Amino acid sequence: MSGSSASAAGLRGFSGGGCRYSLLTIIIWTVVGFFLVVHLVSLYSRKDNNIHDDVSSSDQLQVVHQHQHQHLHLHHPVVHQLVRVEEEILRMPPPRKRSPRTSKRRSRKPIPLVEEFLDDKSPIRHLFFPGLKTAAFGPTKDMGNETSYYFPGKIWMDTEGNPIQAHGGGILLDEKSNTYYWYGEYKDGPTYHAHKRGPARVDIIGVGCYSSKDLWTWKNEGIVLGAEETNKTHDLHKSNVLERPKVIYSEKTQKYVMWMHIDDANYTKASVGVAISDNPTGPFEYLYSKRPHGFDSRDMTVFKDDDGVAYLIYSSEVNSVLHIGPLTEDYLDVTPVMKRVMVGQHREAPSIFKHQKVYYMVTSWCTGWAPNEALAHAAESIMGPWEKLGNPCIGGNKVFRLTTFFAQSTYVIPLPGVPGAFIFMADRWNPADLRDSRYVWLPLVIGGPADQPLEYNFGFPMWSRVSIYWHSKWRLP
Ligand code: DGJ
Repeated sequence: MSGSSASAAGLRGFSGGGCRYSLLTIIIWTVVGFFLVVHLVSLYSRKDNNIHDDVSSSDQLQVVHQHQHQHLHLHHPVVHQLVRVEEEILRMPPPRKRSPRTSKRRSRKPIPLVEEFLDDKSPIRHLFFPGLKTAAFGPTKDMGNETSYYFPGKIWMDTEGNPIQAHGGGILLDEKSNTYYWYGEYKDGPTYHAHKRGPARVDIIGVGCYSSKDLWTWKNEGIVLGAEETNKTHDLHKSNVLERPKVIYSEKTQKYVMWMHIDDANYTKASVGVAISDNPTGPFEYLYSKRPHGFDSRDMTVFKDDDGVAYLIYSSEVNSVLHIGPLTEDYLDVTPVMKRVMVGQHREAPSIFKHQKVYYMVTSWCTGWAPNEALAHAAESIMGPWEKLGNPCIGGNKVFRLTTFFAQSTYVIPLPGVPGAFIFMADRWNPADLRDSRYVWLPLVIGGPADQPLEYNFGFPMWSRVSIYWHSKWRLP
């Protein structure tokens, strides 16, 4: 057979259903295909060295689950437990007559379980806020072989056997003493509505601080920044609002610097406050409050990057947009640099973390103390653009996933010794009695392709998935 008739025979092999391809078409498609494969392989190897599979959305959970094993080298049986998809079946009582309060909410909140959650008279309240006698955990309880287990939503005791009071909190790992410090709103007072239409609040008591070596056993270090009792013009006067305190350490000044949301009872002051201390356990000296960059600021956090530059991230422009900007070198103020990110997305409760040079953020939507759906975003520069990854919650049940497990993000801590694994810290707010709000700590892992194709990437997933796994009980590896 001559060369030309051999190619003709070869070409015939590609014909089908009356459709013939020219040699040129085949070459073009081969080249296009080759570049496409190279492009995909480079994307995946850049973002997640161990992931080579493509995933359809229907089997996403299972494949993500397998990927995480490869990605995090989760061969240890205890680590393996972290990424297990755990279903939650809530035993519902028979239908009952709605209280006037519940029926009023009906039109606004289509999910009955959320109505039950918000109704302090609900017969299934114990499912969201289990009682002290049956459901407290911590080092003073006889936990048998359940010592060191987290029980999201149950009452977490400190080393003295008192419920931990550190809401809307954040964690500082003090490298000098190799100790974790948990700072949060100390809310152990009565809840009331300061004004008829104002949100539920408690008087400022101060910022609580707890220390730990293992992230489970927490010793109360006291109130490290206290309320002002008498001076009504002071930001920290008990009639005001102090929320979401976060502490970072400045190597430059050797000071511990606290940033927090400062407000009046109507949430109209919308400012940040700054305090400083020589020690992680305080006392912190309150310095001042301001509207950063001249804008209103409500939910906020601070993030200290690997290069020592720290950033303030806050919900602004009536919570419609997040603002992000670097702090001054001493961490005591913002610089004039600021970017508006997630514009028009109405996100609050920001928590930022970083893995393999990529920044991630989990936020909530803005619904007061009521829970809502979390979103994860990712960015190559902390200043943006931030791209939406989708809802990070996995397991539980549909309502759990649509309500961030009935909680709201506050902070994310890198899990010691397991790259790509973190602890997601959230608050299960109890608006009827804010002091009895619970902590929902869950494993968060980065790995696997994102759920949603991204606008700027020809529809191919560019980022790894952020996954928060529900567990009614779990422990660190
Ligand atoms: C939601 C915020 O995330 C909380 O920190 C708190 O400010 C409440 N709103 C107040 O309603």
